[in-house]
Amino acid sequence: MSSTAPWWRSAVIYQVYIRSFADGNGDGIGDIAGIHSRLPYLKSLGIDAIWINPWYKSPMADHGYDVADFRAIDPRFGTMAEAEALIEEAHRHGIRVIPDIVPNHVSDQHAWFRAALAAGPGSAERERFVFRPGRGPDGAEPPNDWMSCFGGPAWTRLPDGQWYLHLFAPEQPDLNWEHPDVRAEFEDILRFWFSRGVDGFRIDVAHGLVKHPELPDLPPRRDPDAPAPAERVPHPHWDRDEVHEIYRAWRRVADEFPGDRSFVAEAWADSPARLANYVRQDRLHTAFNFDFLMASWDARQLREVIDGSLTTLGSVGAPATWVLSNHDVTRHPSRFGRKVVKKWVANETYRPEGPLDFELGTRRARAAALLMLSLPGGAYVYQGEELGLPEVEDLPDEVLQDPCWERSGHADRGRDGCRVPLPWSGQEAPFGFSPEGATGEPWLPQPALWKDHSVEAQTGDATSMLELYRRALHLRRGLPALGEGDMTWLDAPAGVLAFTREPGFVCVVNLSAEPYQLPEHTSLLLASGPVEDGLLPQDHAVWLSR
Ligand code: BGC
Repeated sequence: MSSTAPWWRSAVIYQVYIRSFADGNGDGIGDIAGIHSRLPYLKSLGIDAIWINPWYKSPMADHGYDVADFRAIDPRFGTMAEAEALIEEAHRHGIRVIPDIVPNHVSDQHAWFRAALAAGPGSAERERFVFRPGRGPDGAEPPNDWMSCFGGPAWTRLPDGQWYLHLFAPEQPDLNWEHPDVRAEFEDILRFWFSRGVDGFRIDVAHGLVKHPELPDLPPRRDPDAPAPAERVPHPHWDRDEVHEIYRAWRRVADEFPGDRSFVAEAWADSPARLANYVRQDRLHTAFNFDFLMASWDARQLREVIDGSLTTLGSVGAPATWVLSNHDVTRHPSRFGRKVVKKWVANETYRPEGPLDFELGTRRARAAALLMLSLPGGAYVYQGEELGLPEVEDLPDEVLQDPCWERSGHADRGRDGCRVPLPWSGQEAPFGFSPEGATGEPWLPQPALWKDHSVEAQTGDATSMLELYRRALHLRRGLPALGEGDMTWLDAPAGVLAFTREPGFVCVVNLSAEPYQLPEHTSLLLASGPVEDGLLPQDHAVWLSR
């Protein structure tokens, strides 16, 4: 890749889920001081940037995705001065910083929503949100049949009789993006943070902002196994074409600032072509490629996703991004350690079922890391993925905090299992997550087996997940073939993915049951597990030099 290409076209971005990364003040909740103290770790891991989940003032109904004030840091996480110091210090370490921005909704404690409640039906203050009368006798039925992503209806009724829309929790009222105040406010928030030195933003629910003006009922649910209809039926609140006007304006804001500021969209689109709309030249820079994350451990599916993503994103001049895990989905060693039993549909909850074979999941996760980090474009590493952490599936009911748990009437255990505080060192909780003498317990209990997964336990152990990630990330930095660029598939039997990247690099992943004879090479750069007699076993991957 040319060294003048903007950094975001090939960056490896490490996701810091702030509550669970490192606790600096000993209250059991991760914070900015904790991130600051771990910058040397991040630097030595070899990543280019960090994306930090929301750190703004929030009542924490959805762990910070319910923002009360975008221009203030939540006291649980620190202060504005600490945030500014973190940005500066990260830059000194050569690490860029990308906060999360949450434009679809705010907290019910945000000044605008409180003013809207106080001002009453028909007021100008309510126009910034989506308030409607109900249906049926006395307006006792919600205005339409939309569902909250966390379960239950997407509408809550107020004592004055009006209903308001919330695609997530009732504490997260949706904003009305037709309102000029909303547009102006967010452009101002972007400038506020860009001028404090942030390098970009991750845009939460980027595909949800614009709703059909008439708020019609949902279309009938499509059978995920049926072929897609010839003509796409627009959804009343996901991925509507009008949303792109907003991002054209945001792009202009980013371009006002020096130094390649960039956006990454969290947009769950139902095809690569729909995703590509977010990253056309006048819009956002990149978008998470969830098709890769949703693919099962199947060579044909993965190859289709890789080809489809590269061709479609490439056709609009955007780089691909690759992602295996984040704070909303089951950690991938625990996904890959199972038979995929149902099809994963964008915008629908996916929880794996059936018994877990964690060794199998880990083997596949190691191979998947080598695949992901050698594909053209950028990649995301979710904290703890480099430690091979499993999903914690046996958290006791009484500690669960994700709003999904209550909202689904305890049908869905939610996302807490991928958010358990990280193990850094030591033999028992808090495993170095909190400092010596901490007064608070980690906000979710850490399992005893965290001791084997800690940074300390894995450092220097050549067979550990951490050392695999370190070596892969360091090789990636040094190898001109990796990052952005082209790839060419090599002929290989069904179940084997093999491709070259020039100059002189080959990646081979064997997803078939038969050991695979490696192609000719001059050296083996990295392997996800033992390779004997040039035979790559099932669920293993290698990087080769030709
Ligand atoms: C975030 C979630 C959050 C939701 C509502 C998402 O897609 O990643 O963690 O609960 O948006 O803001």
